Amino acid sequence: MNKFEDIIEKLNLQPHPEGGYFKETYRSKGEMNEGSLDSNYIGNRNYSTCIYFLLTSGTFSAFHRIKQDEIWHFYDGSPIKLHTISPKGVHSEFIIGRDFDKGQAPQLVVSGGDWFAATVIGNDDYALVGCTVAPGFHFNDFEVPTRKELISKFPKHQDIITEFTHR
Ligand code: GUN
Repeated sequence: MNKFEDIIEKLNLQPHPEGGYFKETYRSKGEMNEGSLDSNYIGNRNYSTCIYFLLTSGTFSAFHRIKQDEIWHFYDGSPIKLHTISPKGVHSEFIIGRDFDKGQAPQLVVSGGDWFAATVIGNDDYALVGCTVAPGFHFNDFEVPTRKELISKFPKHQDIITEFTHR
């Protein structure tokens, strides 16, 4: 058994619709009601949620966006390269990892509303991270564009969008 298969089994991770494996580890019991959230949200949301997320080499988490900021925490394995495209079309790259001498950081905040995609840097490896959001995650706040839709918004990023979209 590969080490990552062992982790998937021990942490009881499930396939994530956009690539990788995940398990929700925390969902606050408390809720914010719609009236106290900004107008982008329809309905109530838990205060906060957290997941384990595991990505393997040669796969990727496809470009998607959520409404709230998402805080990534590095736990184990190879570093992750995360790409963002802001609503204004600025592409940025970040490395989430523990090699501080190389400028990697063990935490990264992805701004709500940015499109983002992630890959594992090493070959034949995996990355295990945590992703925390507030308000809590809801699939209604999760948008996955097609390759064509995202390229039509940001034609100059066609190559990176083609690389990190499934369809
Ligand atoms: N729960 C299910 N999918 C996700 C995700 O992509 N991010 C966060 N933070 N929680 C999730």
